[in-house]
Amino acid sequence: MPSLFMEGTLNDASSSAIELAPPPQQRRMLEIAGLRKRFGTVEVLRDVSLAVSAGEVVVVIGPSGSGKTTLLRCINLLEEYERGSITIDGEPIGYRVDGRTGKRFRMSEREIAAARQRIGMVFQSYNLFPHMNVLQNIVAAPVRVKGVERGQAEARARELLAMVGLSEVDPVCETAGAAS
Ligand SMILES: Nc1ncnc2c1ncn2[C@@H]1O[C@H](COP(=O)(O)OP(=O)(O)O)[C@@H](O)[C@H]1O
Ligand SMILES: [Mg+2]
Repeated sequence: MPSLFMEGTLNDASSSAIELAPPPQQRRMLEIAGLRKRFGTVEVLRDVSLAVSAGEVVVVIGPSGSGKTTLLRCINLLEEYERGSITIDGEPIGYRVDGRTGKRFRMSEREIAAARQRIGMVFQSYNLFPHMNVLQNIVAAPVRVKGVERGQAEARARELLAMVGLSEVDPVCETAGAAS
């Protein structure tokens, strides 16, 4: 039975986060506490708190404009927010609180970039590199950002393509054709 566990509200009270699969282990991977975000006078996220354990699958559901994308964008600081904290594996991301003054300050760009390496995000309007084929698009980040050896990254990419039923696709075909 799916359980509702998100506290606080997105823009619309009918938005909710639903746990689809019971967590196979209890390690809290993502924790959001008391998140508040407004755009001008519009309060989009009002005290949103949620936790996701490793291996758990969570879906955030809500009407268009209720704040789902904003919530996800806050996780890797693509949006700044006024209040609240977000941790990944217990490590704060985005902001740090000065223990002495209690003041919150934004982490350095270097720290934020390092944290973003551990967060995957697929955008609604997908952003693939149009001059690269599907395989090159998949291996670009692991090779350039994480330093994975190219052959190893390509082998993993082929596994992933097979997982989504695209193993028959010629990986050198056009990106748009393969992704649509
Ligand atoms: N960059 C922005 N500037 C001003 N308002 C924004 C911006 N992004 C989103 N909003 C507003 O915030 C609210 C939530 O948007 P969004 O998070 O995109 O909702 P959802 O993903 O649930 O459709 C909407 O009212 C939207 O118009
Ligand atoms: Mg959205």
